[in-house]
Amino acid sequence: MFKKIPGTKDILPEEASWWQKIEDISRKIFSIYNYTEIRPPLIEEAGLFNRSLGKSTEIIRKQMFLIKKKNDVYALRPEGTASIVRAYIENNLQKKSPFIKLYYLGPMFRLERPQMGRQRQFHHLGCEAIGAHDPCLDVEVISLVDRLLKAYAIEGYKIKINSLGCIKDRKELTQLLNKGLRDKRGSLCTDCRLRFKNNILRVLDCKNKSCRDIIEKLDIQDGHLCGECKTHFIQVKKGLDSLKVDYQAAPYLVRGLDYYTSTVFEVTHQDLGAQDALGAGGRYDSLVSDLGGPDVGAIGFAFGMERLLLVSRCQSIKAPKENLVYVVSLGEEAKRQNLKLLNELRQAGIISDTDYEARSLKGALRRANDLGARYVLITGEDEIKKGVVTLKDMVSGEQREVKSDDIVEDLKRA
Ligand code: HAM
Repeated sequence: MFKKIPGTKDILPEEASWWQKIEDISRKIFSIYNYTEIRPPLIEEAGLFNRSLGKSTEIIRKQMFLIKKKNDVYALRPEGTASIVRAYIENNLQKKSPFIKLYYLGPMFRLERPQMGRQRQFHHLGCEAIGAHDPCLDVEVISLVDRLLKAYAIEGYKIKINSLGCIKDRKELTQLLNKGLRDKRGSLCTDCRLRFKNNILRVLDCKNKSCRDIIEKLDIQDGHLCGECKTHFIQVKKGLDSLKVDYQAAPYLVRGLDYYTSTVFEVTHQDLGAQDALGAGGRYDSLVSDLGGPDVGAIGFAFGMERLLLVSRCQSIKAPKENLVYVVSLGEEAKRQNLKLLNELRQAGIISDTDYEARSLKGALRRANDLGARYVLITGEDEIKKGVVTLKDMVSGEQREVKSDDIVEDLKRA
């Protein structure tokens, strides 16, 4: 028997209805904020990600699913931002609209060690707003994050925000850390000793207690930010205050991807355990020009769909098939008649079903109940003789006969 690859999941029908619910809510809210959908390919040139995310990041060093074909190296996309920026440049989207807001949903691939909330194929639900530097856009995007989480009925999340500053400020912060940590390297955890060499900013958000103590002593606040970046960040915080978005300033928040500049943010939820990030994002004001496009500001975020579902109340709500009409045939003639009846119900847009197993009436009613049917239509020998069907209301338990010719209209009214 074949089994699924570790770190992948079958989304079974019942779960798929929760996914659809989250997707429906998201599409509606994205469109209220005037985002339109983009669907880039799942596979891209590996170089796109090397260039965008940074060679020293964990994703590029260890987690890419690569496919080598003669001289070309392709990658299953580990994230969406780089692909969308590539699509924005390649399709000249800035010509059609200098400021564009795009959202996306779909699978991403990272060769990680699987554990709760960490998969090798997972799904992002995210957006990118490309074409503006204004701090009001950061406020709009972070408030959209908040709005979505509330609409998913998720409680107990935290929005943490920070500013990494512009490229010059990031360099300044890197130097500050290099100086501050050089003679303390031996006391850092194994991961951070590697980070010290490859991606020193990531030392800042290490969760290990001994690393935290060392970092907190360095007392990194906003000293590395230039005047412009400091003002930008103050305006973002003021804007969030004015919209009453609950956030925490997190001076040690950095992100695992090199393209970020200025505002970065992360949403965490304690019920997720070790992998506590529900989603994250930030500005990437240099990425579009780095990849050959115009010099425009941009910001976006992505939620991990699997993690949203782990904490969303959607899961505790059994998706009721409120309007399902379940058709029961007692005997061969009834089955033939009901084939036509089912067709008429469906033509009329009424959700209806039957099954083709010969069941007793009791068994069929149990099945209808399991499916959450609202009404059951029963046809047996008696009903055929009288030219009626028996209509059972599964909520009130009431039962009555309705003329076969009138049943579709009757149900439409109900
Ligand atoms: P990221 O932080 O790498 O950001 O991923 C965003 C979210 O995806 C995470 O917060 C987490 O919920 C989920 N996630 C990441 N890896 C996994 C995994 N292996 N299994 C399950 N869920 C996972 C980005 O990818 C950026 N592109 C976000 C962004 C958009 N920034 C600007 N625009």
